[in-house]
Amino acid sequence: MAGVPVTEPARALVRDVLAPDAVGRTVRLRGWVQRTRSSGGILFTLLRDRTGSLQVTARRDALGDAAFESAEHVQVEGVIEVTGTVAEDKRAPGGREVRAAAIGVIDAGEPFPIFADQTEEYRLDQRHLVVRSEELASVFRIKADILRILREFLDEEEVLEVTPPIITGNPAEGGAEAFTFDYFGRTGYLSQSAQLYLEAMLAPHERVYALTPSFRAEKSRTPRHLTEYMHLEVELAWVGLDELLAFIERMFARVVHRIAELRGKELRALGREPAELQGIQTPFRRMSYADAITTLQGQGFSVSWGSDLGTAEERALTLESSQPLFVTHFPAELKAFYMLRSPSDPRTVEAADLLGPEGFGEIVGSSCRETDLARLTERVRATGADPASYTWYLDLRRHGNVPHAGFGLGIERLVRWITRREHIRDTTPFPRTPSRHTP
Ligand code: 4AD
Ligand code: MG
Repeated sequence: MAGVPVTEPARALVRDVLAPDAVGRTVRLRGWVQRTRSSGGILFTLLRDRTGSLQVTARRDALGDAAFESAEHVQVEGVIEVTGTVAEDKRAPGGREVRAAAIGVIDAGEPFPIFADQTEEYRLDQRHLVVRSEELASVFRIKADILRILREFLDEEEVLEVTPPIITGNPAEGGAEAFTFDYFGRTGYLSQSAQLYLEAMLAPHERVYALTPSFRAEKSRTPRHLTEYMHLEVELAWVGLDELLAFIERMFARVVHRIAELRGKELRALGREPAELQGIQTPFRRMSYADAITTLQGQGFSVSWGSDLGTAEERALTLESSQPLFVTHFPAELKAFYMLRSPSDPRTVEAADLLGPEGFGEIVGSSCRETDLARLTERVRATGADPASYTWYLDLRRHGNVPHAGFGLGIERLVRWITRREHIRDTTPFPRTPSRHTP
């Protein structure tokens, strides 16, 4: 009904245009230009908003010369507002297009500096713009879902979310890999783990968790290490190793099954078949550290009891498997001071690492905690630390000391496995590695 003034419609989203009954409707869209070309007096623009992208076509005679030319000059990632009619178009992505009656330019933009075949270093320098890529946008949507599903699960399990500090006075996981800074004349440590604080919160709450950034000053440049990562840590009173592992596998299975249901399309685009996530089955296989060493020796690794399991060893243990694996009962010397000695073999600790399928390596570190004050104090001393600086933590063993256990899950490791990214940096918008803390 050309010429008849219409009340301006409320802003529509791309998903509204794709709705079954949308054809023939007049809509007003706003979004970012992904690409644009004109031929024979018609402009074709791919417009993106938070719900998807859509082809907009505009005829020079419908828009008028001036409006047509200003729309034509909008750069990639420029912003426009389009008013037009929804039409069926078999050739357009999604089978719909919007035929524009008017295009307003909100930000014409400067030439967008990101395009195919640029070096990874350049793309990391331009990360503030690269985060708009379809690939990263999908990963971060999935990451948000993962965080939400984890929180829902923990809420159902009556685990209380608490907020431990990031600025701390002692390293939780060993001083060598802690970032230190000057805290008004004293040494401050960026938190490597909230665990010690979670243990302190157990007495009133019995089941607590924290989702915080953790910091590791590891110089290692590997596809699975960040210097800052999101850490989900859970601490449970009255729980032994079997119950702890049952909790972890239940949580893991919940997340991957739900993500497969919610994000099939994105997963496929990222190279992960949703069926692989659906196929994750509990209980997960358990293998003692001692058996892992025997297995690895059988595969030709030169390891013996007491050897640490590095990337190559972890990889070999699940390379041929589509299921995760718990490796349990490590030698105490390889693990943190707070882990409980195994009653059956005091050379080992009641601990387990969860290794991802397909040779992925560690995703979760877990253990029962030492409750004996004398032994715990001795273990602190054995790390070379002064037990005096852990007075507050040791104090927990003096007041209402109960058996307890917990774990830490590296969110980016989980996201990396689920979304099948080659490098962990592509599971976080602004990755922090030894060589980079900007943008
Ligand atoms: O095994 P970790 O060091 O265990 C702890 O910090 C315990 N205090 C956790 C607890 O029981 N509350 O770290 C736990 C997990 C690892 O399994 C891994 O997934 C992740 O944190 N992680 C890292 N993720 C990314 N980059 C790094 N540099 C990481 N270091 C550990
Ligand atoms: Mg670990």
